[in-house]
Amino acid sequence: MSQLFSTIALRGLTLPNRIVVSPLCQFSAVEGTAQPWHWQHVGGFAVSGAGLVIMEATGVSDIGRITPGCLGLYSDANEAALTKLRSDIGTYSDTPIGIQLCHAGRKASNRPTWDLHKGNVLPIAEGGWDVEGPSAQAYADGWPVPLALDAAGLAKVLHQFVESTRRADRCGFDLIEIHAAHGYLLHEFLSPLTNHRTDRYGGSAEARMQFPLEVARAMRAAWPEHKPMGVRITGEDWNDGGITLADAVMHAQAFADIGIDYITPSAGNIAPGMKLPQVGPGYMAGFAERIKREVGITTMAVGMIITPQQAEDLIATGTCDIACIGRGFMDDPRWGWHAAAALGVEPIIPKQCIRATPKHWPAYPMVHGGKLREGEGIMSHATRE
Ligand SMILES: Cc1cc2nc3c(=O)[nH]c(=O)nc-3n(C[C@H](O)[C@H](O)[C@H](O)COP(=O)(O)O)c2cc1C
Repeated sequence: MSQLFSTIALRGLTLPNRIVVSPLCQFSAVEGTAQPWHWQHVGGFAVSGAGLVIMEATGVSDIGRITPGCLGLYSDANEAALTKLRSDIGTYSDTPIGIQLCHAGRKASNRPTWDLHKGNVLPIAEGGWDVEGPSAQAYADGWPVPLALDAAGLAKVLHQFVESTRRADRCGFDLIEIHAAHGYLLHEFLSPLTNHRTDRYGGSAEARMQFPLEVARAMRAAWPEHKPMGVRITGEDWNDGGITLADAVMHAQAFADIGIDYITPSAGNIAPGMKLPQVGPGYMAGFAERIKREVGITTMAVGMIITPQQAEDLIATGTCDIACIGRGFMDDPRWGWHAAAALGVEPIIPKQCIRATPKHWPAYPMVHGGKLREGEGIMSHATRE
């Protein structure tokens, strides 16, 4: 019995298996609005055999987007496009679709990855914008100094997270993930490297958690009771003086206490000078393991989960509850089908594609390795269209 292919309940949502497509920025929206690219990107993952697809970091305001090409959920046009996308996908797939809501804080107004050779920062002259954050400290030399959010600014940003939450519900999304990692606004509040506030939102580890917790609490109240909400946090800043795994456990506990359903610990990117550890298969899974063990909350492990057996072992050993996979799915948008075949499980596969499964296609092992099992490869010749 595969553990990876066992179901898991997150509140009122039961995932058919424990494979999740990690949020993947596409930098292909126009004024925050989804484009045809998103239909194929998310639509493809919705027939990938995954148990859940989480859409990319989606800005709760225009200036909260990482780049001008990032999705947003702050305008009626943004909402209309995502409503259509969600309902179109629902006509052919039962796969739950979640959305990650984000404010990029001082790391907003960047260029898409394919333009990074011109520098990270998108200048205002080229369509960039003024950025905001917990403190008036730039990410690095040459980056914009953010406007330090005052009480009115904090109230505005909290309201934007809540409004986007309501929009996400109207769009028909099944789950929300709050982005509090990778050096974006909520992470900037949590980390001592970026939060230099002297009001009640800074000064101690508890105070630095206050704004992210207020946002999460308000979002939770605006999101239907039966729908799950998770948070992507940082497991380690990997910078001297930054967030450690012990801090991350405390953050996870605080989010769990206010009704957050799962935690995905990622890491890094809060400030230059990051001391990246050895990166290899499952290199961040230890964060999920400790948070799961000490907090008891459902965890998703992310970071170079590559093979089906590796994902299976992570679940079977209790390291995490869910395997979250990014680049593996970009490389192979049928990853879930292939994992099912490798682990001897019936894939969730659209009827239109059944003839490419091991059962009906003798070439399967030639493409993906392994051996056909008894009763597989029965259609040796495509006898009709
Ligand atoms: C193209 C690309 C876009 C990404 N966009 C996001 C994002 O929108 N939100 C997020 O939290 N992480 C984002 N990530 C990080 C991935 O979700 C994932 O955590 C990371 O790639 C490690 O997992 P992997 O080794 O399975 O790819 C992105 C990564 C890539 C490669």
